[in-house]
Amino acid sequence: MRKEDLAQADEIDREAFPTQWPPVDYERELQNWLAHYIVARDDSEMGEEPEVTVAPEKSLSKLASRVGQFFNHTFGGGLPPSGRQYILGFAGFWIMAEEAHITNIVVRQIHRRRGIGELLLISIIDLATGLNAHNLTLEVRASNITAQSLYYKYGFAQVGLRRGYYTDNKEDAVLMSTENITSASFQSRLNQLKQAHSQKWGIDLYQVAR
Ligand SMILES: CC(C)(COP(=O)(O)OP(=O)(O)OC[C@H]1O[C@@H](n2cnc3c(N)ncnc32)[C@H](O)[C@@H]1OP(=O)(O)O)[C@@H](O)C(=O)NCCC(=O)NCCS
Repeated sequence: MRKEDLAQADEIDREAFPTQWPPVDYERELQNWLAHYIVARDDSEMGEEPEVTVAPEKSLSKLASRVGQFFNHTFGGGLPPSGRQYILGFAGFWIMAEEAHITNIVVRQIHRRRGIGELLLISIIDLATGLNAHNLTLEVRASNITAQSLYYKYGFAQVGLRRGYYTDNKEDAVLMSTENITSASFQSRLNQLKQAHSQKWGIDLYQVAR
């Protein structure tokens, strides 16, 4: 995620989590050395979106966790040096010792059920593995069966419950965690899922870059 993506990230976040207060300060997150954020961009839709406000310039050296997600022809083929790009969704995690804690995965409502959430999760798992994380954890609303279904598909299991965790409606948070993501069994399952995803959605080339 780059500073140019912040306005769209806020918009997508507000659409998905209108009652969450205070909203996440993604500009601050980009300056957090523990945080890593990726975005799914669709360059082909750039012209159809309203003008996006660009956040104030920040020291690029501070954007250590800036991560861009690039797609093949399906979602655009690379990152032009500047300009507005349409963000389909984004995801982030914090690295804490050997644990990668997913803070969010969110896809624009009109682009859901097209494999983008899954691609973001795959990318996070790969990035976290590259950063020597051994497991992934997260909290998800008890009522959020959609997201839980995505996480179960990728080997997360429920490991706890935080009662009344969400301040807006006092909803419980389900704590989920993976097994060791470097284990042969996890990686083998992940490779199967990647292959199935690639075959289903035709996204057979993607790169993650900082
Ligand atoms: C959760 C979310 C990111 C999924 O994104 P998406 O791009 O629609 O998901 P995908 O198309 O990649 O689907 C991947 C898997 O997610 C699950 N899933 C997605 N939509 C689902 C739905 N409506 N009902 C049940 N499961 C669903 C399924 O397991 C699916 O795998 P399948 O296609 O084999 O059934 C998206 O629904 C979202 O942005 N929700 C709002 C934000 C949110 O709640 N984020 C989680 C915070 S912890």
